[in-house]
Amino acid sequence: MPSILPPGITPYYERNGIAIVHVDCRDILPLLVSASCDLVLTDPPYEAEAHTKGRRIHDQRTNVIRSAPLTFTPIDADLRAFAGCHMARLSRRWTLVFCQIEAAMLWRDALEAGGARYMRTMVWAKPNGQPQLTGDRPGMGYESIVTAHALAASRWNGGGRLGWFLYPTDANFSRTPRWHETQKPITLMRDLVTLFSDPGDLILDPFMGSGTTLRAAADLGRRAIGIEISEAYCAVAAQRLQQESMPLDFKQERERIVQPERFESMAEDI
Ligand SMILES: C[S@@+](CC[C@H](N)C(=O)[O-])C[C@H]1O[C@@H](n2cnc3c(N)ncnc32)[C@H](O)[C@@H]1O
Repeated sequence: MPSILPPGITPYYERNGIAIVHVDCRDILPLLVSASCDLVLTDPPYEAEAHTKGRRIHDQRTNVIRSAPLTFTPIDADLRAFAGCHMARLSRRWTLVFCQIEAAMLWRDALEAGGARYMRTMVWAKPNGQPQLTGDRPGMGYESIVTAHALAASRWNGGGRLGWFLYPTDANFSRTPRWHETQKPITLMRDLVTLFSDPGDLILDPFMGSGTTLRAAADLGRRAIGIEISEAYCAVAAQRLQQESMPLDFKQERERIVQPERFESMAEDI
């Protein structure tokens, strides 16, 4: 199979239409051709205040949970403006960016500056989200997904479905392996891939982490490029991609998420 990367870019890993590039995304995004991806689906670093208490550490000895800072650098205004502009330029259809609610309008501005059209901010609700350890205000319990589209007419696979997802995090006590400090649940990423792309499409994740977007893309017959600055996370992502997974039936996945008959019967009632 020919490489899905443009000439001159060396992959850290490439197999069956899925490629990882170990590089600062600022060094490679300008080299990619405009409108060459169908979907940008990414989970960049969050704002500085979220990073200072972004990890939960469970002390087995005392059975106490405390928070600790994340080990990678938070987003800053320059990186947001740069990445937002390029992501909008590179996607011929959707761009989906995870963030905390306080940053949603900052990402909207960054994507619009690149020529995309803001569509919606979706919600991932986390029933096992981090409790408010200070106890002086409500805990957060959800993350936002800023959703934009290229200026062309939009289409997705969700019909009238709501942009709302309910999945537990892969946090402490979960049986899912901990690949990354802030990994997204594979089930959530598969829903987003199913809803916002089609089989064979090319997905770009410029802040790949442990490669959950790429794993979901591979499971659902999409091609994907992941970019990651940390070599350790590139290695983890490559390891995840080498594991065999059960190929998913695209049609069944779509029907499970969208349940179109529900919308059809609602339409009759209106
Ligand atoms: C929030 S994490 C992504 C986690 C991922 N969604 C997962 O499920 O594993 C963001 C990642 O972006 C990476 N990163 C930060 N700045 C970067 C840059 N300039 N270029 C490429 N990767 C970067 C960090 O090393 C980190 O692994």
